[in-house]
Amino acid sequence: MPSTRSGSGKKSASRRPSSRRSASVRPAPGTRARGAAEPAQMAVYPGSFDPITNGHVDIIRRSLRVFPRLTIAVAYNPNKDAAMFTPAERVDMIREAFSDVGDRVVVDSFTGLLVDYADRIGARVIVRGLRAVSDFEYEFQMTMMNRHLKPHIETVFMMADESYFYTSSRLVKEVASFGGDVRNLVPDFVLERFVSRFARKPRG
Ligand code: PNS
Repeated sequence: MPSTRSGSGKKSASRRPSSRRSASVRPAPGTRARGAAEPAQMAVYPGSFDPITNGHVDIIRRSLRVFPRLTIAVAYNPNKDAAMFTPAERVDMIREAFSDVGDRVVVDSFTGLLVDYADRIGARVIVRGLRAVSDFEYEFQMTMMNRHLKPHIETVFMMADESYFYTSSRLVKEVASFGGDVRNLVPDFVLERFVSRFARKPRG
């Protein structure tokens, strides 16, 4: 599938620190990884997003308080993707959720290794959301593997709002498929897609 990247994707020269400014915020010797000459400007928030939930939306809005630009990257595997929505549908739904944000958010899809994709788009930071302690082991393994592959890419974690601690794409799909109420857990247009997909209205 061709890349569905949107947004300008250009680095803003005005956002780059001047050499004078960067000199004044230079970290203590030995505290900066070799080769990382500038602080990260672009972060990537990867996931399956099948579909985007309000938990994802919360993580993305929090990330925008920290990073000037964020690429939301829908991962897919053309050989074994058991997703409910196609990568293009998932990208569309995320774009709809962030239509108010302008070019600070880019929505894209990728296949292959996340760290290779991050390098291709010039992202040095991977953002992941954490809900409960149970997320930790999986996230820890992924972070360590990604660090093994590309040590210059850092992973940072955002805590979702507590109201989304039990929200996951897998659970909302399952609940919606049996006609359960997932309002407030997913954006309205995702709810509409569930309704048309499962051809029945959620109980309310
Ligand atoms: O939303 P998810 O399903 O928890 O996201 C997992 C994702 C997509 C971030 C992860 O599976 C991934 O990075 N896939 C791309 C392939 C890859 O790089 N695999 C090695 C990860 S250590």
